Amino acid sequence: MKKMNTKIIERIERLKRKKNAIVLAHYFERPDVMAVADIVAGSTGLIEETLKANADIIVVCGVDFMAETAAILNPDKKVIAPVQRAVCPLALQLTRKELLEAKKENPGSEVLIYLNSLTETKAVADCICTAANAATIADKMDDSLPILFGPDQAVSYYVRKRTIKELITVPEYGACPVHHKIVREDLINAKVAHPEAKIVAHPECIPEVQDHADYIGSTGGMIKYCTETEADEFLVAAEVGLIHMLQKEAPTKIFYPVTTTAICGGMKKTTVVKIEEALEKEKYEVVVPREIAVDVRRAMERMFELA
Ligand code: 13P
Repeated sequence: MKKMNTKIIERIERLKRKKNAIVLAHYFERPDVMAVADIVAGSTGLIEETLKANADIIVVCGVDFMAETAAILNPDKKVIAPVQRAVCPLALQLTRKELLEAKKENPGSEVLIYLNSLTETKAVADCICTAANAATIADKMDDSLPILFGPDQAVSYYVRKRTIKELITVPEYGACPVHHKIVREDLINAKVAHPEAKIVAHPECIPEVQDHADYIGSTGGMIKYCTETEADEFLVAAEVGLIHMLQKEAPTKIFYPVTTTAICGGMKKTTVVKIEEALEKEKYEVVVPREIAVDVRRAMERMFELA
């Protein structure tokens, strides 16, 4: 990490105190952004932390759906995203219209939608899930009904391996283009170079990568596994930002990215300069239309109940 200007850190800290604000960042953010955040977590952890946040302003450094989720869960607080259009390319792959059509084609199914999707799409779901709880939730859903799941085929593969539930996945080729940059050949080469290393993978990775992994789980789950397991070396199949946090949490261990090209552009849009500006000008306020927010909240409550 480049040495950060201490002046900007001081100004950010002063603004946080003055405005009773907290800064939350996802593990895929830039290291200096994570350094000024009060809380750094995976998607599930960010949800838990926003629910407990004792602040007037919550600044969310992540992709759009993360800030929108925080706004839905905190209608009485001001939720701010330091940048606009921090797009999650996976989220764009299932529109509300497409999901409504899929629902019509599959009457009698329960709709389980991955958090990494458009907020307006999630509003027509029965339940929402994250990488951390997708398999548990699928397992606890109504046994007599098939699950209509979207939009990630790789996460669907991960869930199907862990439940006997019938999953119908929409769209046919939904995928995170960042995690799909991690291919089997890279993994095999990395394993040849580091034969003792354990392989940890995110469920958004392609099935061939998942099939070779010693552990598959959410970003938070991967950190927990790497810190708690006895191994000293790990091959990490996830967006490269996670390596920084892994190294921080387990400084005596060694982490190798399976590929260095898995970089999420949306996550890297936020900078410390943008965070200072966000706190100073209280922009960009994230507002989710009430009728959408009510429906997403209902589907999230089902997630809290089942997870
Ligand atoms: P997690 O839910 O594991 O933090 O993953 C978030 C994400 O955006 C993966 O692409």
